[in-house]
Amino acid sequence: MINKDLKQIEWEHNASNESDLGKQVLRPLNKEIWSLLSSDIIEKLQLENRVKSFLDVGCGNGRLISLLTDKSDEIFGIDYAPSMIEEAKKIIPNGNFMVGSAEALPFPNSLFSRTLCYSIFHYFSTEEQIYTAVDEICRVTSPGGIILIGDLLDKKFEEEIKKSSKLGLEANLPLIKRYSEWLFVDLEKIVKYLEKKGNKIEILEQPSLLPTSTYRKDLKIWK
Ligand SMILES: C[S@@+](CC[C@H](N)C(=O)[O-])C[C@H]1O[C@@H](n2cnc3c(N)ncnc32)[C@H](O)[C@@H]1O
Repeated sequence: MINKDLKQIEWEHNASNESDLGKQVLRPLNKEIWSLLSSDIIEKLQLENRVKSFLDVGCGNGRLISLLTDKSDEIFGIDYAPSMIEEAKKIIPNGNFMVGSAEALPFPNSLFSRTLCYSIFHYFSTEEQIYTAVDEICRVTSPGGIILIGDLLDKKFEEEIKKSSKLGLEANLPLIKRYSEWLFVDLEKIVKYLEKKGNKIEILEQPSLLPTSTYRKDLKIWK
């Protein structure tokens, strides 16, 4: 079985066996930090005024978008783990949630005013997956729309983070909890890739109060 399938099963397991919504998405934060995170996303996605349609790619259990539901007329979420989607439907009953992969989004071109994809790329297995997902996210976002691909692990910190991981201990953990399995991103390479396609793109810092903000960055893309 390839790593991608194993990780999918592990997410599935996490959503079914953890009762805490934060722990299900491996983000056991207190209420204040969740609120800080959502305010940061609202600002970066320019959601002060309500938009028509919002998509969250790799939405997990919907905990994060439950803090943004009043920002869009319609909320869509997609995740490849069916149990995550079941949880999301419970938290946001009027959302449109479906099981599917970030690399093949089941939507027509230019449907969404805003697209968020937060904290999923480091769980991918290959760089190719990243570029396929980026293309898909751009395809489904409307001209004039805004995309935030967030919580990307900056490749500049890869050696330092991976050196600090204890491989002996990690061997007993699921793949999704191992630093050594994380995929770090060459941010400048993605910027150049998208600029060549005519997009405006900016690398943004995260609020310093977020525990992992030193090595994680966000990408804002204007369609
Ligand atoms: C850390 S959680 C983040 C959930 C949510 N975006 C958040 O920030 O709270 C990562 C989620 O990405 C999903 N995921 C990982 N790879 C995916 C892929 N290739 N396609 C769709 N979902 C994926 C997992 O199932 C999991 O729910």
